[in-house]
Amino acid sequence: MIKRVKLINYRNFLDFDIELSGGNLFILGENAAGKTNFLESIYYGIKSRSFRTHREREIINLRRNQAYIGLEFVDKGMHKRVEYLLDRNKKKRVKLNGKEVRSLRDIKEEVVVFSPDDLSLVKGAPENRRRFFDDLFSSIDSEYQYALNSYNRALLQRNNILKEGTGDPNLLKVFDFELLKHGSAVLFMRNSFLVRMEEISRSILWELSGERENLKIVYCSDICFNNIDEDEIYEAFKCEFYKNKERDMIFKSTTTGPHRDDYIFYVEDKDSRSYSSQGQQRTLSLALLLAKTEFLTIKTGSKPILLLDDVFSELDEARRNYLIEYIRGFESFITGTERPEFVDNIILIENGNWRNL
Ligand SMILES: Nc1ncnc2c1ncn2[C@@H]1O[C@H](COP(=O)(O)OP(=O)(O)O)[C@@H](O)[C@H]1O
Ligand SMILES: [Mg+2]
Repeated sequence: MIKRVKLINYRNFLDFDIELSGGNLFILGENAAGKTNFLESIYYGIKSRSFRTHREREIINLRRNQAYIGLEFVDKGMHKRVEYLLDRNKKKRVKLNGKEVRSLRDIKEEVVVFSPDDLSLVKGAPENRRRFFDDLFSSIDSEYQYALNSYNRALLQRNNILKEGTGDPNLLKVFDFELLKHGSAVLFMRNSFLVRMEEISRSILWELSGERENLKIVYCSDICFNNIDEDEIYEAFKCEFYKNKERDMIFKSTTTGPHRDDYIFYVEDKDSRSYSSQGQQRTLSLALLLAKTEFLTIKTGSKPILLLDDVFSELDEARRNYLIEYIRGFESFITGTERPEFVDNIILIENGNWRNL
């Protein structure tokens, strides 16, 4: 549970400090008051990155050179404090319980962001879906995270060798081997986790849509196999990989592998990307995020923190009620421009500060 959020020179918050007590907190504020920024700071504190930008400097207040983000947690009576110091001209510094650290494996909290304007998961490029599933699978399984990172590293190095053209064929072989090993592990785990994830998403979408919409998720890859079996997948990847090695040399990049795969959402047997209405896509996106929440809860044994950015204004009554019921058992931060009736704990954000309502 988050106990405290302290921000200095963070976006439009120059000096912001709030103590929290868990449960559902509603953050009310006019447009551009900083509601999404506040959610972003919580996400940042937990994940060490923003969900709004890759350019970290953007989050430092425009008229300042440094920003501070500090989060305090309490977990089964244990206190934890994580602090970030961002500098326009220097590397960022991270502290855990007052001691400088390089990575934050000790922050076990998970977080899921809901933002209804963002339909990129359903409509966007394949990388949006890969990122969604990669992020989820990495959070629930450190082996997946390791295989994916190793694969991406090997891919980068192999592509660099291909680009140079005159690369040493033996060195290329080393990376071919690495790529096949970690890539087939990625393929295997993606397909195994997807079975469960599809099950959960399907039942949530069914309920959310008033028992009207049937979901199927299909993993889409050039690498074909019949069974989710590690050896079979390895062989299939190897076969496809060597078939295309010459093409890789011509294109100077790796043209086969899980880095090019996609997930297709079929609603009522139709590809949702092209055939669903905007409303259906929004419902699907919500169902997938709820399924992610559910899957994280099952796999990690603890509930993620939910950040709901302007979600309620976009939903019809049935979906709104479903979501309100759903979040009751979670720690959540909900933003909106209108005062809600379903939560008691409300703060107002105004002029870079907050007050209780
Ligand atoms: N680095 C920054 N420095 C100062 N202000 C910023 C910075 N980044 C964003 N802002 C300001 O934050 C406001 C938007 O905040 P946001 O959280 O998106 O509002 P909303 O309450 O509508 O979600 C804008 O007024 C924007 O100018
Ligand atoms: Mg906003």
